[in-house]
Amino acid sequence: MRCSQNLQLAGMQRGSSAYRILLAKRGRCPVISALAILPNNAPISLHTICQPPAFRLHSAMTISSLAVLGAGQMGGGIAQIAAVSGINVTVFDAFPGAIAKCQGVHKKSLSKFVEKAKMTQAEADAALARIKFTDKLEALAGADWVVEAVVEDVKVKKDLFTKLAAIFPSDNVVLATNTSSISITDIATAAGSTAHRVVGMHFFNPVPLMQLVEVIPAVQTSKDVTERTIALATKMGKTPLIANDRAGFISNRVLMPMINEAFYAWMEGVAEPQAIDGIMKLGCNFPMGPLRLADFIGLDTCVHIMNVLAEGLNNDRYRACPLLKQLVTAGRLGDKTGRGVYEYPAK
Ligand SMILES: NC(=O)c1ccc[n+]([C@@H]2O[C@H](COP(=O)([O-])OP(=O)(O)OC[C@H]3O[C@@H](n4cnc5c(N)ncnc54)[C@H](O)[C@@H]3O)[C@@H](O)[C@H]2O)c1
Repeated sequence: MRCSQNLQLAGMQRGSSAYRILLAKRGRCPVISALAILPNNAPISLHTICQPPAFRLHSAMTISSLAVLGAGQMGGGIAQIAAVSGINVTVFDAFPGAIAKCQGVHKKSLSKFVEKAKMTQAEADAALARIKFTDKLEALAGADWVVEAVVEDVKVKKDLFTKLAAIFPSDNVVLATNTSSISITDIATAAGSTAHRVVGMHFFNPVPLMQLVEVIPAVQTSKDVTERTIALATKMGKTPLIANDRAGFISNRVLMPMINEAFYAWMEGVAEPQAIDGIMKLGCNFPMGPLRLADFIGLDTCVHIMNVLAEGLNNDRYRACPLLKQLVTAGRLGDKTGRGVYEYPAK
């Protein structure tokens, strides 16, 4: 079966921008990879997935409305790519100013896609028209699927999931969280008897550009929910890969200790930041060095994730580097404060 046929089977409109983006990646055949899962929950090999059928279509293919909690960098990005893929989205944010800011980001981001001829003006307008905003949680009722992307605070998230379980009484509505470090199993407990429909759907920043969605089933998550999450991420133009629910999942478990080690190397005088980043870029083909990346992520976030790793994996080797912590104490958080490892003069 050809990839183009699979994209249509997956419910994607022929000629739509999401269809074109996916088709351009047909070498990796993400739709088939998303639909075929081995019994042990591991995605089957790319070689195997390009062989004919042995997959089934999941109800995620018919998801037509999405509720997104949080209009920040991540929630806004998730809403945008969902709208581009044809899904009607309602974004909830309770904080003044967040919604207006998100609307501005959508307009700017979509107009860049138009400028670069990645989509037409009509497609961008149609995507914008599919996104609605609300400051009332209850107004999300009726959506087919929920993605939570509010502040990285376990109490806030668990409170919300208890409310979401009541607002969405149908078991069929999946409650996904975009947390980058909190245990999905812990968040799922807040959904009480419907914990099996809670799943991690970890998008990457900036969402419209980054290809991966790390799909993280909690201990309680049903296999069907995991499969539907993979199918939905694919429909949204992303490549889903599964990681189990251990602190840091895969992305942060591998990335953050490397960033932390770069701070140790700097602290011990092994090399200066420019040299550390240059060596990793030129020698390891990284698109940006680990210290530059730490500034982009936010040094406070890096410390937070290292703390989660140290706590969750019960191992002191994940403790945040003293120099990294010191920069945070000094308010040097990276791009967002204009100074971290490097300086970023206001434009
Ligand atoms: N920034 C990243 O690189 C990144 C990457 C992957 C995952 N994440 C995760 O995504 C989530 C959101 O991160 P972000 O970077 O978008 O943060 P952000 O600060 O840009 O946005 C968070 C939004 O949530 C809103 N919010 C806070 N508390 C709320 C509440 N109780 N109810 C409703 N809205 C609330 C805020 O007003 C804000 O608009 C976090 O869990 C984070 O760990 C972040």
